[in-house]
Amino acid sequence: MTKIVNSWNEWGRLRRVIVGRADGTMVQAPEPATVRDWPQWGFPKGTYGTLPQEMEDAANEQLDGFAALLESHGVVVDRPEVLDFSQKVSTPDWKQDSMFGVMPPRDVLLTVGNEIVEATMSQRARWFEYLAYRPLLEKYFTEDPEFRWEAAPKPRLTDATYVDGMEFWEYAESLPDEEQIERFTKKKQWNLTEAEPLFDAADIGRFGRDLFVQRSTTTNGKGIDWLRRHFPEHRVHEVLFLEAHPMHIDATFIPLRPGLALSNRKRVPISDEMKELFALNDWEIVPCAEPAYNADTKPPLCFCSEWLSMNTLILDEQTIFVEETELAQQQQFSDLGFEVIPVPFWAVGPFGGGLHCATADVYRDGTMEDYFPKQIPGY
Ligand code: ALA
Repeated sequence: MTKIVNSWNEWGRLRRVIVGRADGTMVQAPEPATVRDWPQWGFPKGTYGTLPQEMEDAANEQLDGFAALLESHGVVVDRPEVLDFSQKVSTPDWKQDSMFGVMPPRDVLLTVGNEIVEATMSQRARWFEYLAYRPLLEKYFTEDPEFRWEAAPKPRLTDATYVDGMEFWEYAESLPDEEQIERFTKKKQWNLTEAEPLFDAADIGRFGRDLFVQRSTTTNGKGIDWLRRHFPEHRVHEVLFLEAHPMHIDATFIPLRPGLALSNRKRVPISDEMKELFALNDWEIVPCAEPAYNADTKPPLCFCSEWLSMNTLILDEQTIFVEETELAQQQQFSDLGFEVIPVPFWAVGPFGGGLHCATADVYRDGTMEDYFPKQIPGY
């Protein structure tokens, strides 16, 4: 019997993984969930189109290089199918002028044990992105009789899903970060309403029996409730961080091995229960190193933050892939006892993320284990 899908955490020895592609990635057309406004890079508000060819080639070279590096470490690498992301898409509820791309599989696919769930997603441009992974998921389903293939309910994404539509972003971005944190983050209310369950897979940190799900601009309370009901054997904890515009947990708070997690030095946890739970179970939380770039020096057209410095992929409990120019972060991992494998990857940033975003686990050694035997009632 072939077992293809198995991954319970972020640190078991990696055996099989999906690595995304940069081909045809778009600066996506405006929609209530996302508005790009980059006049300095040729995409003023309202415009959209493919990223420049030379950037795409550079990103693909790094993605292919990373795939080859993983293979040289004995990891089987699968790649998604490329769709025409420039096409207009629609459902009976809405029309959208473009899709996005297929670089970050982590956003769409959530692997928990022998199950892969296609996330709801919360942007219209990304509603059909699951199709790029269907050839792989169909293959796993055919070859692995234990693979549980699931899809969360496809959201309607009508105007009722969004607070104030596109005007939300204009308003939010006119405010300083501190004010956005007061008005939105601390109230757990950004652009999404609670009309329907919404989550991106990259908002979920997998720590064995405990799943930590970030409330964010892509994941709402109902999305977390859906996950809680869907995984009754797990403990699903809502987490919140000090950040104006949270989107995806993997440049904010990541496990490194049992008992050790890396926390963004700025986006610190603000959920008291979360801090208590980690302390109660003797987990050490270390603040990450300073990133090599900042908001002004990161590559053009990059909607991800400079904190991709901590967006890493763990090969096993002793070995970690880290972006090649993130020297301070590499040093910190060495000091923590890891062998660091540097990977050139910042050209991929504008296509949707770093080493963790660009991958989705298919198989890691291990079973469901409990790393938080002491729990806090009601959390
Ligand atoms: N979207 C996440 C960040 O840029 C990965 O921080």
